[in-house]
Amino acid sequence: MSTHRVVWITGASSGIGAALAREMADHGWQVAASGRDRARLASVCEHLPAAIHAFPLDVTDRAANRSVVAAIESRLGPIDLAVFNAGVGSAFSVDRFDAEDVFSRMQINYGGAVNGIDAVLASMRSRRAGHIALTASVAGFRGMPGAAPYCASKAAMIALAESLRPDLAARGIDISVITPGFVATPLTAKNRFPMPFIIEPDEAARRIRRGLAARRFEITFPRRLSYMLKVLQRLPYAAYFPLIQRIAGRNS
Ligand SMILES: NC(=O)c1ccc[n+]([C@@H]2O[C@H](COP(=O)([O-])OP(=O)(O)OC[C@H]3O[C@@H](n4cnc5c(N)ncnc54)[C@H](OP(=O)(O)O)[C@@H]3O)[C@@H](O)[C@H]2O)c1
Repeated sequence: MSTHRVVWITGASSGIGAALAREMADHGWQVAASGRDRARLASVCEHLPAAIHAFPLDVTDRAANRSVVAAIESRLGPIDLAVFNAGVGSAFSVDRFDAEDVFSRMQINYGGAVNGIDAVLASMRSRRAGHIALTASVAGFRGMPGAAPYCASKAAMIALAESLRPDLAARGIDISVITPGFVATPLTAKNRFPMPFIIEPDEAARRIRRGLAARRFEITFPRRLSYMLKVLQRLPYAAYFPLIQRIAGRNS
């Protein structure tokens, strides 16, 4: 069994998750990389085949999450760090409001993280050790026009992490919430609005790795966008709604 630290990353077949898999492998971790697309996962593993291992998974399948954890722990050893990063994007129109569509995004973004926690927690609790990280978004700081399902799923992840933190700390387990601004990935490639302070996935992965290494609860970047959104977060509704409607109107 490996003496290296083991990280499990979901959504590792593309974008931020793929960059984080490479970054963690470059820093000596054994990486269990999950996603649905086996071909894209295989190409991520090619970066460092001795360190990155593919564990295909649909995060909405609860039983499959448990099977994957069992497979990772038997092949690589106990999971030290689990990064629940799988997610789908934000395009949404209230004129085509469809409960199926809203729930399906909730099931991937929020439900996928819940299924992942369900799968890793027993082992972490028995060891009284471990670190869980949820990739939310600055879009979870406040409800924003044109992104209701996405904002709702990411706000739920932030609240989940905040609520779990004291409970997990008492059991020797850390939790972090990652709230990136814009990162240039297939998810944002579809956006037709300005994306201020956008960064590359490799830069995002470096910031995430450093934040995780420091076991920070909140890993948020780029700072300028994050702080601007934190100011919006604190505005009373009477000031927030006219402002966000003006911004949304400018971008539509
Ligand atoms: N890009 C940004 O600006 C940005 C900003 C803030 C937060 N985020 C968050 O960062 C995370 C990664 O996003 P990204 O930008 O890197 O997007 P991306 O390149 O589209 O990657 C999304 C990843 O999620 C996986 N995924 C989607 N549905 C899945 C499912 N049902 N089961 C398993 N895996 C699934 C995809 O893998 P398969 O298709 O192979 O399943 C892929 O690996 C997401 O949670 C996103 O909300 C992104």
